Amino acid sequence: MIVFHNIWPYLLSHCLLLCATEAVIDQFQLEPANVTQLQGSAAQFNATVQGPWSFMTWTVSGLLVVTVPSEGNATSTSSRFSALRCGNGSSCVEFAIYNLTRQDSGSVTCSVQGVYGTKTAQLNVQESGSVSILGSGRTVKQDEQVELQCEAAGWFPPATISWTLNGYTVNSSLFNTTDVADGDTYNSTSVHTFLAVHNTTVTCLASIDTLQKPVSSSVQLVVVPKPTDWTVLIAVVVSFSSFALLVLLIIGVIFCYKRRKEKEATYQEEMMRQRTHSQLSNRSTSQTQGQVNQVFTIDGQTSLPSSVRSDSGFSQNNGLALYEQPASENSLAGNGYNAAYNNFELGFPKKHRHVTIV
Ligand SMILES: *[C@@H]1O[C@H](CO)[C@@H](O)[C@H](O)[C@H]1NC(C)=O
Ligand SMILES: *[C@@H]1O[C@H](CO)[C@@H](O)[C@H](O)[C@H]1NC(C)=O
Ligand SMILES: *[C@@H]1O[C@H](CO)[C@@H](O)[C@H](O)[C@H]1NC(C)=O
Repeated sequence: MIVFHNIWPYLLSHCLLLCATEAVIDQFQLEPANVTQLQGSAAQFNATVQGPWSFMTWTVSGLLVVTVPSEGNATSTSSRFSALRCGNGSSCVEFAIYNLTRQDSGSVTCSVQGVYGTKTAQLNVQESGSVSILGSGRTVKQDEQVELQCEAAGWFPPATISWTLNGYTVNSSLFNTTDVADGDTYNSTSVHTFLAVHNTTVTCLASIDTLQKPVSSSVQLVVVPKPTDWTVLIAVVVSFSSFALLVLLIIGVIFCYKRRKEKEATYQEEMMRQRTHSQLSNRSTSQTQGQVNQVFTIDGQTSLPSSVRSDSGFSQNNGLALYEQPASENSLAGNGYNAAYNNFELGFPKKHRHVTIV
């Protein structure tokens, strides 16, 4: 505690000394300390002096360009330099350099006669150059790899190159830029490779931080569409249609089969119906024909010649009795025929029909 008490007055005296020095230094200020401007534009610096002064000088890159008395007008070596009082009184002087050139780059120094000394600021002058995409109005095939080269020449510092396709910024990983010093400027070459899809406006932009708007170059990329590959379409159409045809065929076959089955069923029904019907009708016709037969037997009885009669088994069997019982034979044959006919009628209706025709 004793030690601390003893230290305080010591520290205080040192601080007062330092603060006094600071105050003296702070009496003269040069702002801003670092100025970056584009070639052709202007740069301004302010010197503010707190306290009386008589004479001020400004040097650019080591050359004295302006002298300013505390009273009266400044004297400049060129119309490009000026020193004007800013605000009231003589405390503030604004120094300006117009139509900047690259040679103005470097230190800007302000000196105030007396205790104020010298202050230095930094001036950087940038230079914008040209930009162009090599080869104009290109025509490429669809899906072709396009390699476009953009050249930015006469820039300081090296230009920052970017690309846009139809206004959309291209990712910086998709192009390569190399800078080459050319005297006191830089030339940059940027190569962008991409796939041609459709007509595209390709723009290459070059920029430096003092440039309000990038310098750009555009080309219209005309992409010729690939001829349509019909083989795939044809293959698809053919396979599809053949499949459809197959399906139709199968459906047709199934339909026909069903129809035939139905027809068969109805045909069989019809047949059954017809068979029963014909049986019935046969029965009826046999009855009518039976009568006709009776007429026939009557006719045969009267008109059948002996030779015909000899053909029948009856005549052979009864060879001796040929004359003995012709009438009875005839009547027997007739009766036998009738009996046979009756048998036929029951068992074999078709055979019976034959007989009736005869
Ligand atoms: C001045 O500014 C430029 C660009 O803004 C920078 O590159 C440079 O380092 C600065 N210089 C100093 C001394 O601050
Ligand atoms: C210099 O000071 C004036 C007045 O205060 C001000 O209008 C001007 O912007 C300043 N210029 C710079 C470069 O700081
Ligand atoms: C950029 O250059 C590097 C090295 O030469 C290479 O590997 C890369 O593929 C290039 N990229 C483009 C987009 O051209």
